[in-house]
Amino acid sequence: MSIHFSPIFENFAARATGIDLRQRLSAAQIEQIHAGMNRYGVLVFEAQDLNDDEQMQFASLLGPIEEEAAVVDVQLQRLKHRQMIDISNLEVDGSIMAVNDRRRMFNLGNRLWHSDSSFKAIPAQYSMLHARVVPPEGGETEFADMRWAWDRLSQATKDMVEPMICDHSLIYSRALLGFDEFTEVEKLAFAPVPQRLVRRHAGSDRKSIFLSSHIGQIHGMLRPEAMALIRELIEQACAQQYVYSHAWQAHDLVIWDNRCTMHRGRPYDDIRYKRDMRRLTLADSASTLEQSA
Ligand code: OGA
Ligand code: MN
Repeated sequence: MSIHFSPIFENFAARATGIDLRQRLSAAQIEQIHAGMNRYGVLVFEAQDLNDDEQMQFASLLGPIEEEAAVVDVQLQRLKHRQMIDISNLEVDGSIMAVNDRRRMFNLGNRLWHSDSSFKAIPAQYSMLHARVVPPEGGETEFADMRWAWDRLSQATKDMVEPMICDHSLIYSRALLGFDEFTEVEKLAFAPVPQRLVRRHAGSDRKSIFLSSHIGQIHGMLRPEAMALIRELIEQACAQQYVYSHAWQAHDLVIWDNRCTMHRGRPYDDIRYKRDMRRLTLADSASTLEQSA
């Protein structure tokens, strides 16, 4: 059976039906998923009741799973697979985290528009987020297409930003929210890495603007000027009419391409309601500096 894509915008975000991700997938089905990702950047698979092993198995069919970066409070790992990223408000025993928990403060960084792992020398390709428990309201995830954002820029802006190189770090995005409690070990682990601001998306051969709230500097620019420009570009790229907002149901799996999209989490009452989401991330093949623009 072949996968059917129902697009949300013409070339951005689609619902994928006609596939059960727990079944052994054929090479043709894997090809179709990559083709859908290359065109739409975000794919939504509903009613996929996967466990951790099944989610790992599916991800490994699409590419190499990224190792998790040195994380805050790594000893408090709730999930059995080290590469599975815990996007929840839960303690190891399943209770809700305290208001002032350091992990909660750190995870609030996900509310800012970003591309996963843009702060790594080799950034992410796809992320796949699976919903296990969702709150009764709020907690949507929003997505924006950075190829579409590039297409909308004026020629003068394109010419200006095309050669720019930015430094990305988790420390920069957290600083935007006033979080600065990094240990010396974390400061070393999250040292800034350079990335091109404009890249070519290999899957679609379209240019894409590689924005992220992890950006804290543009090479050769005064910092406030650089940050004002980045803020302006993010606002334009993520204007509401260009955004897909995903309202989660338990067992939804959403895959996005970090090379050509940004996303952010929306607020919910995380002191009252549980939200248990689990993410696997695939690594890209090289730094953007080594890829042709
Ligand atoms: C992520 C992320 C936002 C959310 O999983 O990478 O940014 O809505 N999630 O949980
Ligand atoms: Mn993210």
